[in-house]
Amino acid sequence: MSEAANFQSYHEPVLAEASTSLLVTRPGIYVDGTLGGGGHSLLLLRLLSALDGRCLLVGIDQDSHALEAASAKLEAYRDMSALVRGNFSTVREIVTSISQGAGAGLPVMGLLLDLGVSSFQIDTPERGFSYLRDGPLDMRMDPDGPVTAADIVNQYDDRALGRLFLRYGEEPLGGRIARALVSARAAAPILTTGALAELVRAACPRKDLAIKTLSRIYQALRIEVNDELGVLERALEEGFSVLSPGGRLAVISYHSLEDRIVKRFFAARAAADWGPKGLGIREPLAPAEALLVTRKPVLANEEEIRRNPRSRSARLRIIEKL
Ligand SMILES: C[S@@+](CC[C@H](N)C(=O)[O-])C[C@H]1O[C@@H](n2cnc3c(N)ncnc32)[C@H](O)[C@@H]1O
Repeated sequence: MSEAANFQSYHEPVLAEASTSLLVTRPGIYVDGTLGGGGHSLLLLRLLSALDGRCLLVGIDQDSHALEAASAKLEAYRDMSALVRGNFSTVREIVTSISQGAGAGLPVMGLLLDLGVSSFQIDTPERGFSYLRDGPLDMRMDPDGPVTAADIVNQYDDRALGRLFLRYGEEPLGGRIARALVSARAAAPILTTGALAELVRAACPRKDLAIKTLSRIYQALRIEVNDELGVLERALEEGFSVLSPGGRLAVISYHSLEDRIVKRFFAARAAADWGPKGLGIREPLAPAEALLVTRKPVLANEEEIRRNPRSRSARLRIIEKL
């Protein structure tokens, strides 16, 4: 990979201070489910090494390039960390196996998910995430994943494509763009990010709004290729279930579809179950399982947004298991 050597600028961690200092409470196992370049993990390890008690950081990523970059960055903390290639939607299995080995006897005190793709993935044309860089129409975070964006663009019928653009991109021109793609691919398959971007631009009636449409179409395809919403739902369930009492779950999301899932999941765990309304029940059927550490999402301040524009849409939410 052409830029693989340049791991220094892999990714600048977003909301780094808040997400790490609010996650770490006491010694135990901490899981970074989206290791990336190891930016958040490095800060977590610094905090953990200052605690009085044994700690282990488990870093998970489905991208082998991320693991390579992170293991170089976290070299100094090799004894305190275990890096695993896998999908965070299987966090229960990963943590269970660590708890039976290197992390035996330690409570699971934290899980961080910093969703989406890294700057390194977006900036590497061969990965096919960006409409600004020409490359194969791929978009798999796991380079061995079964479905590419080209498969979807060339195989879904126009209704399925239109629904996808509407649902995951919230793109009002979804149907029109889907029809344009289906008609173009009858002549030749759409195989590159550049070719797709050209077709999307051509289908936009207002050229001044084409950039917004492009980013929504690319977002929709990326979500579908990586089943981003499905894996997030599974990771929240599994992640919360492996936490020990007092353990915290922190999620940084970057668009409203993800944030809605996180917000609903957290609200449901933080509320007692009073059964159907109108029954006049005096005791809850089930007590709350968590408390909200952040009542409102934590956002990046102006200084961070200036330094790292990617942080503009970031929303951090944290709950603590009771
Ligand atoms: C926003 S980056 C994380 C950056 C990291 N926090 C840092 O400071 O360098 C997201 C990373 O999570 C990985 N990722 C996204 N979804 C994943 C999933 N379902 N399972 C495992 N890794 C995932 C991506 O491959 C990417 O490397």
